[in-house]
Amino acid sequence: GCREELGSLHGIPLYKSFIEGWPQVEAFQARHDDLLIATYPKSGTTWLSEILDMIYHDGDVEKCRRDAIFNRVPFLEMKGAHPTDPAPPGLLPGEGLGCPQVIYMARNPKDVVISYYYFYQMAKMHPDPGMLAEFLEAFMNGKVAYGSWYEHVRGWWEKRQEKQLLYLFYEDMKKDPRREVQKILQFLGKEVVEETVARILHHTSFQEMKKNPAANYETMPSSLMDHSLSPFMRKGISGDWKNHFTVAQNERFDRHYQQHMAGSDLCFQMEV
Ligand code: A3P
Repeated sequence: GCREELGSLHGIPLYKSFIEGWPQVEAFQARHDDLLIATYPKSGTTWLSEILDMIYHDGDVEKCRRDAIFNRVPFLEMKGAHPTDPAPPGLLPGEGLGCPQVIYMARNPKDVVISYYYFYQMAKMHPDPGMLAEFLEAFMNGKVAYGSWYEHVRGWWEKRQEKQLLYLFYEDMKKDPRREVQKILQFLGKEVVEETVARILHHTSFQEMKKNPAANYETMPSSLMDHSLSPFMRKGISGDWKNHFTVAQNERFDRHYQQHMAGSDLCFQMEV
């Protein structure tokens, strides 16, 4: 449905259609070579998915253009996702669904909330976000789809000791994509030639992904996503929050951030 209220799953706000499909997520049986991509929304899910699809296809661009990203690397919580596909993005700091390997990507919360605000406007499965001031409050209180950013990033950060988990940051990927792709390759135990790395980096750059119909979500029905309100591939930068937060909003956000990150050694770069 369009612009309906969110439901609640284990106390976490979520789209009703995803809640309906939840039994399928719980029934998911990971294979020994499965890889789970886990992210809070708007943290670089699509970017990381495209990088991994390129890695899994040895840099074969044609194979990575065969279908839309959300079909090639399906969301586990989306009805119709094939439960044996190799790279389903997850959502909650839950059990990791038994996947032997997990790659998590986090992004600083100020850029996440701005990206999310535009996404709420263009993607019609969300309730109307109202004014930015209102949406900021909802975000800080975890009253947005997928719940609290703080719990998500902290929950997965604590898990990185226990399991085979690579914890990445959007800001690092922006600053030095080559180094981050090398990290992923090393984590997966894959060696590829320099030419392939170059192809992966080119194909997954913001400019390339923005014009790639298999990556930019433009094949989604316009009843679900209206790119004329805000394109899915919007800016792809770090620090855009500065163009949106007032000084007072920023101070309030900083105080809230400090309270909710207290006692954690997890650090975010608010710009690069
Ligand atoms: P902005 O709205 O700030 O532009 P997700 O895929 O998790 O929904 O995240 C979407 C955000 O990642 C959007 O941020 C989008 O522009 C950005 N993004 C997608 N591909 C990217 C890329 N190749 N490089 C940089 N940012 C990218």
